[in-house]
Amino acid sequence: MSALPKSAVSDALAAPQALVQVTDLTMRFGGLTALDKLNMHIGDGEVVGLLGPNGSGKTTFFNVLTGLYKASSGSIIYNNTEVIGQTPQEIYRSGVARTFQRSRLSLPLTVFDNIVIGDYQHMNQGLLFNLFQRKAFRAEYDSYVAKVEALLNIFSPPLVARMFEPVETFTMIDRRRIEVCRALLSRPRLLLLDEPSAGMTHDETEALMDDILQVRGKLENLSIVLIEHEMNVIERITDRCIVLNYGKKIAEGTYAEITADPNVQTAYLGEAE
Ligand SMILES: Nc1ncnc2c1ncn2[C@@H]1O[C@H](COP(=O)(O)OP(=O)(O)O)[C@@H](O)[C@H]1O
Ligand SMILES: [Mg+2]
Repeated sequence: MSALPKSAVSDALAAPQALVQVTDLTMRFGGLTALDKLNMHIGDGEVVGLLGPNGSGKTTFFNVLTGLYKASSGSIIYNNTEVIGQTPQEIYRSGVARTFQRSRLSLPLTVFDNIVIGDYQHMNQGLLFNLFQRKAFRAEYDSYVAKVEALLNIFSPPLVARMFEPVETFTMIDRRRIEVCRALLSRPRLLLLDEPSAGMTHDETEALMDDILQVRGKLENLSIVLIEHEMNVIERITDRCIVLNYGKKIAEGTYAEITADPNVQTAYLGEAE
């Protein structure tokens, strides 16, 4: 018999070559356990919905997976390498990108600037470089313009013509599109979206999800984890769902399976009261 908990063993067996394998992941903040021995996987090219009531640990999972928080214990193997202990920059460079629950755009800056900020770790920036290697800087700048243009063309072609306008002149849905483009600039293998529909109308959410599905079709092998409250979005776009409650996985399966699960219904009823 293995010393590993049963859930860890069954999850590992279910996904022998997952892009991400999470084993007994625990994150404590003082006396609060935000993630409690979480076991899950994310397959290559899969779109996984991460659900659960407020405070169930969804954002914390993203924060641990992107290196913002260091897990108290457990393991996250991404692309055959342990993530825990790596810096956010290292994890980003290895192909994990995210958007944040609250918008993180600099409103006075242009679309281009906001998208390129996401990739600053890759840039040969720095004062000396800029002063003494003007030509090289110009070439790098031009290559970024081309990269951003290509990306906007895939994701949202109408934004190309407005690339050098300040973000504050754009609607909420366009701002979200810009944030997703920023995350995609590094051409990640794993894209983490934290409640992208927050603050948007139903129709805007539908349109944004169409864009995301479209991008997924064009960028091969991109895996996506989506935190989302709108159930019809989850139903439409995810291959599989994982439901958290108090930092524990309480259900996993297709949308139809998890919505029929009494544990899930109880967890959400608790929140509504
Ligand atoms: N940096 C932090 N310090 C202390 N507690 C935190 C921190 N981040 C999250 N938490 C707590 O962890 C729990 C899970 O939070 P979070 O992951 O943000 O939930 P969700 O995204 O599912 O709504 C909550 O109780 C929250 O208050
Ligand atoms: Mg959250």
